[in-house]
Amino acid sequence: MKFFIDTANLDEIQKAHALGVLDGVTTNPSLIAKEGIRHREAFRAHIKKICEMVQAPVSAEAVSTTAEDLIAEARELAAIDDHVVVKIPMTEEGLKAVKVCADEGIKTNVTLVFSPLQALLAAKAGATYVSPFVGRLDDIAASGMQIVSQIVDIFSNYLFDTEIIVASIRHPMHVLEAARMGADIATIPYAVIAQLVRHPLTDVGLEKFLKDWEKVEKI
Ligand code: E4P
Repeated sequence: MKFFIDTANLDEIQKAHALGVLDGVTTNPSLIAKEGIRHREAFRAHIKKICEMVQAPVSAEAVSTTAEDLIAEARELAAIDDHVVVKIPMTEEGLKAVKVCADEGIKTNVTLVFSPLQALLAAKAGATYVSPFVGRLDDIAASGMQIVSQIVDIFSNYLFDTEIIVASIRHPMHVLEAARMGADIATIPYAVIAQLVRHPLTDVGLEKFLKDWEKVEKI
């Protein structure tokens, strides 16, 4: 299973990268705004920096609303770096843009997916990745992980190459369930990655080992 980090924060990306388990990065307009990026040139430079840091897929979101504009934006974003994956919203115009991008060899990540049928459409249009948002479904008392399970089934029935990125992850259980279901990727906020590392029994056990080691003569 691949781990992406869901952030545009360079320190968090660097810290996750240093762990040796990072396979990519996803950003979105909200995460970009959170970093204080206020114009398109700064956005492009920031995405380039992330690509150079991780040398792995980096999702950058297109924000146009028509297929024509999404395609133009996708071409611009893809020209930033070979690692850029263009995030395209799950709309009719978005699907048309995904198809053209696929034909041109531009990688896409269809975002804001909330149903298995949306994921099926995205895969049929030629999306490289689809991103079901599990946390936002849980927030409205639906089951995010149930949608992921259905997408895993559908994609395996028809042998789609499209990879599933479990997105909008809120806690370690989302990651555990995604792994058990066989989702290809989880895109995880840094705070949740840190939670995955820690276990209280590891902390207690390490403290005891270090304390006992002090009793051993150092000669
Ligand atoms: C995915 O690519 C999105 O950036 C992200 O996972 C959305 O998460 P949120 O629901 O916590 O904003």
